[in-house]
Amino acid sequence: MIKSIAVLGAGQMGSGIAQVCAQAGYQVTVIDISEMQREKALVGITKSLDKLVSKNVLRMEDQQATLSRLAFAKTLPGGDFDLLIEAVTENITLKTKLLAEASQILRDDAIIASNTSSISLTQLAVCTNRPDKVIGMHFMNPVPLMQLVEVILSLTTSDETFAATADVIQAIGKTMVVSQDAPGFIVNRILMPMINEAVFTLYEGIATAKDIDAAMKLGTNQPMGPLALADLIGLDTCLSIMTVLHDGFNDSKYRPCPLLKNYVAAGWLGRKSGRGFYHYDAS
Ligand code: CAA
Repeated sequence: MIKSIAVLGAGQMGSGIAQVCAQAGYQVTVIDISEMQREKALVGITKSLDKLVSKNVLRMEDQQATLSRLAFAKTLPGGDFDLLIEAVTENITLKTKLLAEASQILRDDAIIASNTSSISLTQLAVCTNRPDKVIGMHFMNPVPLMQLVEVILSLTTSDETFAATADVIQAIGKTMVVSQDAPGFIVNRILMPMINEAVFTLYEGIATAKDIDAAMKLGTNQPMGPLALADLIGLDTCLSIMTVLHDGFNDSKYRPCPLLKNYVAAGWLGRKSGRGFYHYDAS
């Protein structure tokens, strides 16, 4: 039974995952090499919990209890973790390196989950010393508010690993869907081409960003327009997922829009950098 969780990476996804696991009663250690990132994660989690308390979604005493279950570390301590959830940048070289290293440190029976949004789980699994215990747990952004976790089965994932992962998802109050290991899985296979097409629509001068988003928000009842959503997800993440789809299917229908590439090259990554298709406050 899973009691103690390590979350590798304290970015927006890692901190959201750590938060919802700690809220559900798990002991959680968040690992990130960058002190600034660890501090930012704690500030973000505290703000999010404040918000949930102010909306009566969480009781004040549960907020304190959640924070007391969270610890931060620079590197993965040898410790007694039952599950590690990796949520580092969407880069296969980085992920395989960190997962291979983590698998040398973790207990033999610990499960390794990756929050990858598009990279092959089978490729990640075979870099570890326990391919049967590797699984995809793909959370949606913003994690505390989004109901879904997409579970991805690699060719090597065992039934026991799947069952233990499903228990954790139920315990944190999320809903699971299951995908086989194919580029983009379910959500990003469908969502990213839509976002990419919105960027093409802007690139070709068909409409302004504001009108593209209004069209999709008001015309198709999406909670936010595709360009605003791209800014929320991070344009670097969107580009890297489109690249995985393009390479994985070898099909030109997934070619990333040149404007998306240019925005990423300019460092206009969306909300996290203060500028993407829209401008954001530094706060
Ligand atoms: N924790 C707690 N509260 C939060 C929060 C967080 N992390 N993030 C936002 N909130 C709060 C806001 O502060 C806001 O509070 P107030 O009402 O007091 O201002 C409240 O939640 C609602 O937020 P918004 O006012 O911005 O309005 P909203 O009703 O539009 O909800 C949203 C926000 C849930 C993000 C909604 O716009 C939405 O569902 N957007 C789509 C998100 C989506 O599609 N996510 C999936 C992306 S794909 C992905 O993540 C996978 C991938 O691999 C790329």
